Amino acid sequence: MQFEKFESVGQLVEKIVKNITEIVVKKPEAVLCFACGETPRPVMNRLIQMKKSGEINFSKIKILGLDEWIGVGRETTGSCAQMLYDDFLIPMDFRPDQIHIFNGLAANLDLEVEQANQFIKDYGIDFVLLGIGMNGHIGLNEPGCDPMAKVNVISLSETTRKVMTKYFNDTIFLTQGITLGLSQLLKANHVVLMAVGERKAEIVKRVLNSDVTPDVPATVFKNKEKVCFFVDAEAGQFLK
Ligand code: F6R
Repeated sequence: MQFEKFESVGQLVEKIVKNITEIVVKKPEAVLCFACGETPRPVMNRLIQMKKSGEINFSKIKILGLDEWIGVGRETTGSCAQMLYDDFLIPMDFRPDQIHIFNGLAANLDLEVEQANQFIKDYGIDFVLLGIGMNGHIGLNEPGCDPMAKVNVISLSETTRKVMTKYFNDTIFLTQGITLGLSQLLKANHVVLMAVGERKAEIVKRVLNSDVTPDVPATVFKNKEKVCFFVDAEAGQFLK
């Protein structure tokens, strides 16, 4: 894993955007996978700006969603689908045929799992932008998860259930999520794990100082060459 601390979020964003655009120039039909939530927003905003000014052409790429809460759909503010659509997919004018994301309201979750596994089998993942949870979760691969897992339905940890309230307007009681598995993320051609802001400083330090353990899921990326762990000065404040 390559670790880099940037002085500003802006510099970090430019590095990631450069990485993404180079991949798409080389492979216009690349599969890009994005976490939702606060972390990737500045990257998405920069890509939207570049699309509007005609600097990039993402008309052939495919977008793969990373995860979703079970029990909510795109109509619920705070669902991953809602955030991805409103923050990125709509402003980027992606067509439905370019998008594969989870439906948290699906009646048949086995089918939801199977379809995402099939998508990855067919197309692979060229690039993935990940955030990190306060407990080190990746996607919704929670502490204690199986690093060999493919797409799976998980029980949300207590930490995640507390933290997730920040996304929702109303009080909501959700206990499960669906997520790409760590084994699939580890096989992606490029992985960027991004952390910004003071509140991520403790977990960033913990990931870098602990051995590889599923108890801190982000640590499973530590021995992987293709992974970049990029943080801003605040998230990296306990590190040189
Ligand atoms: C969301 C996801 C999560 C978040 C993580 C950090 O799709 O995969 O792992 O990336 O919980 O969330 P934020 O960015 O809101 O701090």
